[in-house]
Amino acid sequence: MIICTTPREIRDWVRQQRVSPNTTVGFVPTMGALHDGHLSLMRLARKECNVVVVSIFVNPLQFNVQADFDKYPRTDEQDLTLCRELGVDAVYMPTTDVMYPLGHETTVLPGATAEPMEGAGRPGHFAGVTTVVTKLFNSVQPDCAYFGQKDYQQLAVIRKMADDLDMGIKIVGAPTVRADDGLAMSSRNARLSPQDRNAAPIVHRGLNAAKHAFDNGERDASNLCTIVSDMYATESLAHPEYVSIANARTLQPIKKVEDPAVIAVAVWFGDVRLIDNIELRP
Ligand code: PAJ
Repeated sequence: MIICTTPREIRDWVRQQRVSPNTTVGFVPTMGALHDGHLSLMRLARKECNVVVVSIFVNPLQFNVQADFDKYPRTDEQDLTLCRELGVDAVYMPTTDVMYPLGHETTVLPGATAEPMEGAGRPGHFAGVTTVVTKLFNSVQPDCAYFGQKDYQQLAVIRKMADDLDMGIKIVGAPTVRADDGLAMSSRNARLSPQDRNAAPIVHRGLNAAKHAFDNGERDASNLCTIVSDMYATESLAHPEYVSIANARTLQPIKKVEDPAVIAVAVWFGDVRLIDNIELRP
């Protein structure tokens, strides 16, 4: 496994791997602190592509709160071991100065898909994501890129960006990986207190309750949201920031579920913000 630290290094290396016109390069962008969610994307890429590149870069541009960036877990050595074990071919690990040298001023601005939910609660977050993912795509130049449905809106924003900007990269979405108690795997879970960690599976239980009602015929968006909120209200450690229902593709709010939709939530436990979602398919 090779480790590259500059755009030029990774671009040249990937180019050398394209031994035939049929060579496929799969790319998994991450911020490290790798867990089973990340590993599932890497396994999928390994299965589908000849060459697998993983990036590890904690992107300051997408953190709207400095403390969240400072406290973000960093486990480089362990991450590299996991990448090796999974048969990753190259890891791209630029420093912040390489990614954003003095004078860097160009950004990629997403549109309406990025406005509600996470976009409303975290101003500037998605512009940080689209900018860094564009830079990563330009450096790695993959055929396919893998993203988790855990970050549902991120996946929708990236799909829209790749399509709108004619990037020619296939965006693959992969299912959310959960702990046995239903909590979606997240690098931020490591920061939960034992009490909060015990309480956190309620995030998924609330979503499941709404899905159950949906499966039994409930189509009213506000009723479905209330089912989720009512369940969260039974847990004093859970502080919901939003419970939203949106069109699954555009992420715009809906009143009634008539097309594929998503219920997405952000819930605080102490100073840790968790997100999760569930799809509703009529
Ligand atoms: P990060 O949070 O490290 O996540 C990297 C990828 O792993 C994302 O596509 C995310 O959706 C996926 N992922 C995280 N938890 C998952 C889970 N439990 N199940 C399945 N997939 C999961 O998302 C980012 O980094 C950044 O925004 C990035 C795209 C790298 C840009 O900086």
